[in-house]
Amino acid sequence: MPVAEDLETPARERRLAPWRDGFGSGAAAHEHRLLSAARPALPWLNWIGTFAHPLLRVPKLGWITADPRTARAVLNDPNHFTLLSEGGVGHLWAQILGDWVYELFDGAGHYDLRTRSRELFTEKTSVAFVEAAWGERMSAARKSFEAGEPLDVADLSRILVGQMVVALLGMAVPGGAADDTYRDIFETGEQLAAIALGTTSDTVLPPQKIDKARRIVERLTGHIDASFATAPVSTIIGRCRELGLSIRETKGLSTLLMVAGTETAASAMARMAALLDDTGEQHRLIADRSLTENAVREALRVTSPAPIIGRSVLADLEIAGRRLRAGERIIVLTWTANNVAGEYRIDRPYIPQNRQLWFGAGRHLCLGGPLARAELTAMIELLVGNGVGYRVVSRDYGHRVLIPAYRSLVVQKL
Ligand code: HEM
Repeated sequence: MPVAEDLETPARERRLAPWRDGFGSGAAAHEHRLLSAARPALPWLNWIGTFAHPLLRVPKLGWITADPRTARAVLNDPNHFTLLSEGGVGHLWAQILGDWVYELFDGAGHYDLRTRSRELFTEKTSVAFVEAAWGERMSAARKSFEAGEPLDVADLSRILVGQMVVALLGMAVPGGAADDTYRDIFETGEQLAAIALGTTSDTVLPPQKIDKARRIVERLTGHIDASFATAPVSTIIGRCRELGLSIRETKGLSTLLMVAGTETAASAMARMAALLDDTGEQHRLIADRSLTENAVREALRVTSPAPIIGRSVLADLEIAGRRLRAGERIIVLTWTANNVAGEYRIDRPYIPQNRQLWFGAGRHLCLGGPLARAELTAMIELLVGNGVGYRVVSRDYGHRVLIPAYRSLVVQKL
C-alpha cells in the first residue's frame, strides 16, 4: 500500500485554508452544512480544533486535541484516561444499564470481552453478514436504480442498517418484514443515541432520560434472555454464546452494537455517495475499480461520522508539553484531525499518523470496523457497479442529530 509523506506539518496555513477561503459550493460546502445542521456548534468546535495542535484548553469544555499523535496517546493510555467517569460514554451507559458496566466497559472485564469478541467481525465474517442480511434488499434497490428510478440513499442506508441489527441480534420480526419495520428499528437505536445529545460537556442524565433509555434497551435486547441458549451461530447472539460470553455481557455488547454501529454506518454510506458525486471521483472509481478499498477509507476519513470522542483524566499527567489534572475532561476532535490532510481523493495514499482514527484507537477501537467497511463496499457496488455512474438530484441534511447525516440524498443513474 502506498504511504504518504509525513503530513504532520501541513502548517497552520493549510489547516485554516478552508475556513479562510470559504467552503465553496462543492463537497466541502455540503459537508460543512451537514455538520452545522446536525449541531450548530460542531463546525465551530472543528474550527477551534485547528488551533488544538497538539492541545488547547477551552473554557467549559476542557482540553481539546485535533493532533492525531496526541489523540492516539490519549486513547491508548488507560492508566490516565477513562470513558467511565463523568464526561465519557461509559458514565452514560452505567446510569442506563447499571454499575456492572464499569467492569465490562473499561475494567478487566472489558479486556476480557474484547479478547473474546475479537473474531466477531473479521473481514470475512463481515462480508458474509452483509451478504446474508442485505443481499435481497440490495438486489431490489439495484433493479429499480438501474431502471432509472430515483433512489434515496440515506433512507436506504437506514433501512439496511436496521436490517443488519435484526440479523445480528436475531430479533423476531414478521416474515418478509417491510422497509418500515427496519426504519423503525433504526429510529429506536437513534432515540437511544439521542439520549447522549447535549452531553458534550455533561454526562449526568436526568431520571426521565434514564427511564426512557432503559425501555428502549429492553425493547432491543429483551428477547436475548429467551433466545440466548438456542440462537444460531449466524447471529451475534449465538456467536457470543459460543465465545463464552454471559447473557449479561451479550446484552451489553448488543446494546453497544446498536448505538455504535447504526447511525455511524448509515451516515457514512450516504455521505460517501454524496462525496463521490460532488467531487467527481466516482468517474475515476468507475475507470479503476481496484481503488474501491481506498475510496471506502477516504470516505471514512473525510466523513469521520463520530466527530468527537470524550475522555476524563484519571490521574495527573504531562502530555504534549501540557499538564492535565485528574478530573479534567478531554475531547478528541477526530473530524478535524482526519480532515487536515485535504479533500476526498480516492487515490490518496494511506496516512500513517492518522491510521484509522475515524474508528478511534487503543482498547476501545471500533469493534465493527470491518463490518462498516463491508457495508460501504456494498454501497459502492450498488452505485457504480453498472459502470455508468449517478448524480445527486436532491438532498436534505439531518437537523439536531447526534451523528451528522443526510436526512435524504436522492440519486439517479446517469
Ligand atoms: C462508519 C461507521 C463507524 C464509525 C465511524 C465508528 C466509530 C467508532 C469509534 C470512534 C469508536 C470508539 C469510541 C470511543 O473510543 O469512545 C467506536 C467504538 C465501537 N464501535 Fe464503531 N463505528 C462505526 C461502525 C460500527 C459498527 C458497524 C459496529 C458494529 C455493529 C460498531 C461497533 C462498535 C463497538 C461495539 C464499539 C465499542 C468498542 C469498545 O468500547 O471496546 N461500530 N466506533
